[in-house]
Amino acid sequence: MKWRFLCAVIAVLLGMCAPGALPRAEAAISLEKCTLCHGKPEFRKILVDGKIRELFVTADSLKGSVHAKKTCVDCHFDIGEIPHRERPRRIACTHCHYKGNAEGAPQSDGYLAYIDSVHGKAIARGNVKAPLCQDCHGSHAILKAKNEESAVSQKKVAETCGHCHIEIYAQYKTSIHGVAVAKGIREAPSCTGCHGEHKIYGHLDPKSTVYATHVAEQCSTCHGSISIMGKFGIETEQVETYKESFHGVASQFGSRTVANCASCHGTHDIRPQDDPLSSVNPKNVPETCGKCHPGANPNFAVGKMHIDAKKKEAGVVYYVASFFKYLTICTMLALIVHILLDMYGRTKRLRGEK
Ligand code: HEC
Ligand code: HEC
Ligand code: HEC
Ligand code: HEC
Ligand code: HEC
Ligand code: HEC
Ligand code: HEC
Ligand code: HEC
Ligand code: HEC
Repeated sequence: MKWRFLCAVIAVLLGMCAPGALPRAEAAISLEKCTLCHGKPEFRKILVDGKIRELFVTADSLKGSVHAKKTCVDCHFDIGEIPHRERPRRIACTHCHYKGNAEGAPQSDGYLAYIDSVHGKAIARGNVKAPLCQDCHGSHAILKAKNEESAVSQKKVAETCGHCHIEIYAQYKTSIHGVAVAKGIREAPSCTGCHGEHKIYGHLDPKSTVYATHVAEQCSTCHGSISIMGKFGIETEQVETYKESFHGVASQFGSRTVANCASCHGTHDIRPQDDPLSSVNPKNVPETCGKCHPGANPNFAVGKMHIDAKKKEAGVVYYVASFFKYLTICTMLALIVHILLDMYGRTKRLRGEK
């Protein structure tokens, strides 16, 4: 495993060095030379499977993009002769995008996170279905993430991930979070709000934000915040009540089998409680608990799940909790009084002996 990762890093580094290796005259093939062929609107190729690949690309394709000032061979740097005989290789964006570059690209080593991610590792293993930079960011029309039209903007990134994660995207789109993002609510999570941007790991990898014992923390970044949830009239007490519950305590001790937020609410299909399709709709709760508590009947799940023992509405739980609270206080008081009396007696006896 390790050496494969090393190979990937070396491959990326080689990518960075490649242009220097090209003779200058060749590196400077002008735009006109490319558009000689690629500038014809009908320039396309019919692939063996009958699909058509459009090959029409001009300087206009880059207009308005972050790379508007770049020329064709800045990116397609493996094209050293015309006509190019072979199909050019896929672009290595890390050719310019690395910390210390002299190309004018932002001085960020963010790409390292990608290389370490589930996607970067899959590419290194030779999985051609995993995304390269351009599969998320686009090729010629790359925009800043802040721009709503960018393929990685808050609003569009789910669709971009959805090109490959088709079923998950379909679920997410109709979930409370997906609907909210589509409406332009910036506080709601897109895929990256839960999984991270370049730092995406497999859900069974302890580094992942959605690893079983990290889920509660991830949901709590928003659901524990009064300033965020207040805007939507959603309570934040669920986070505290979960932490204090049997499941929450066990999870904090590292148990991966107890319920985390997502075991009860779902992951990509989270819906509000009053939605009949919600896993926490009263009708569906026995089935939801039943996944792990076989034979859970409606009585098992009766009452509120997120119980705040400090509030009277919690019923029996409130009185039991209160009983134990006062029992503890009384016991402590009795103990202190006992110690004081004992000390008083001892000093009296000592004085008496003198
Ligand atoms: C003489 C015509 C001609 C010129 C000039 C030309 N190309 Fe091409 N290009 C082609 C043809 C034909 C193909 C399809 C090759 C194939 O896949 O069989 C192609 C394919 C490509 C592809 C790959 C498309 C794919 O299938 O994914 C890229 C990238 C590309 N050219 C870039 C360039 C660049 C950059 C220049 C200028 C430096 C350039 N081309 C100049 C004819 C040309
Ligand atoms: C910012 C880097 C960049 C620049 C600059 C750039 N390209 Fe591309 N080009 C790409 C990427 C990325 C792809 C997608 C294929 C891949 O992953 O390598 C691509 C694909 C292509 C293709 C295949 C058809 C397609 O649209 O997918 C052609 C043809 C092409 N480029 C020609 C050009 C020409 C001509 C220019 C100059 C006007 C140019 N490119 C400038 C990055 C670039
Ligand atoms: C030839 C060098 C070069 C290559 C190759 C290149 N870029 Fe860039 N990139 C730049 C430069 C320079 C800028 C800064 C442009 C500016 O600020 O005007 C930039 C800016 C960006 C930005 C905007 C960053 C920001 O915070 O403003 C993104 C996103 C980006 N590039 C993605 C890519 C992707 C994805 C690829 C591969 C398809 C790629 N780049 C390939 C040179 C390059
Ligand atoms: C799985 C999809 C994905 C892949 C693969 C990916 N990125 Fe990104 N990238 C994103 C997302 C999402 C953002 C963050 C957008 C935001 O800030 O909201 C981002 C942000 C960026 C930014 C800052 C952009 C800006 O406008 O602020 C740059 C630069 C960048 N990526 C370059 C790269 C490079 C280089 C690679 C390949 C080594 C790469 N990315 C691979 C999804 C991806
Ligand atoms: C509200 C938080 C949240 C959002 C939003 C979210 N995910 Fe997830 N995702 C999770 C959690 C939690 C898991 C772990 C599930 C488990 O442990 O079974 C997960 C697991 C996954 C997995 C691996 C498990 C599987 O079922 O294959 C993939 C792939 C995935 N998510 C992709 C996406 C994509 C793509 C999007 C956007 C369309 C997205 N996620 C949006 C929380 C989220
Ligand atoms: C070009 C296709 C493609 C795109 C785009 C893509 N992915 Fe993936 N993703 C994959 C493939 C393939 C794998 C499996 C990698 C492997 O072999 O382990 C994967 C794996 C994952 C996993 C780990 C699954 C697990 O087992 O837990 C998560 C999480 C994930 N992707 C989330 C995302 C998110 C979020 C985005 C968008 C920001 C995204 N992906 C964009 C193809 C893609
Ligand atoms: C990036 C912030 C963010 C993250 C992370 C997040 N949520 Fe949310 N969630 C929201 C926002 C904002 C809403 C309200 C959307 C609306 O009402 O339009 C919401 C709504 C909900 C609702 C519906 C509540 C109601 O009363 O309507 C549930 C349930 C929920 N989220 C559960 C979760 C779970 C479980 C996780 C973790 C797997 C999670 N959320 C992660 C921001 C977030
Ligand atoms: C053992 C299952 C379970 C776990 C674990 C769990 N919940 Fe809940 N949650 C429920 C049920 C059932 C409801 C329905 C109302 C009730 O019974 O309190 C609910 C209600 C909610 C609501 C209000 C939803 C609405 O539609 O009004 C939010 C928000 C919420 N939970 C967030 C979370 C978060 C965040 C976590 C993790 C920190 C979490 N939940 C953990 C079962 C669970
Ligand atoms: C992801 C699996 C999972 C889900 C879903 C789940 N639990 Fe649990 N729960 C556990 C595990 C594991 C334990 C600890 C082992 C045990 O005692 O059975 C536990 C323990 C408990 C306990 C305390 C110990 C006991 O057995 O009395 C209660 C109460 C409980 N769960 C109620 C619920 C309710 C109510 C729901 C549905 C709203 C639910 N659980 C959903 C896995 C789960």
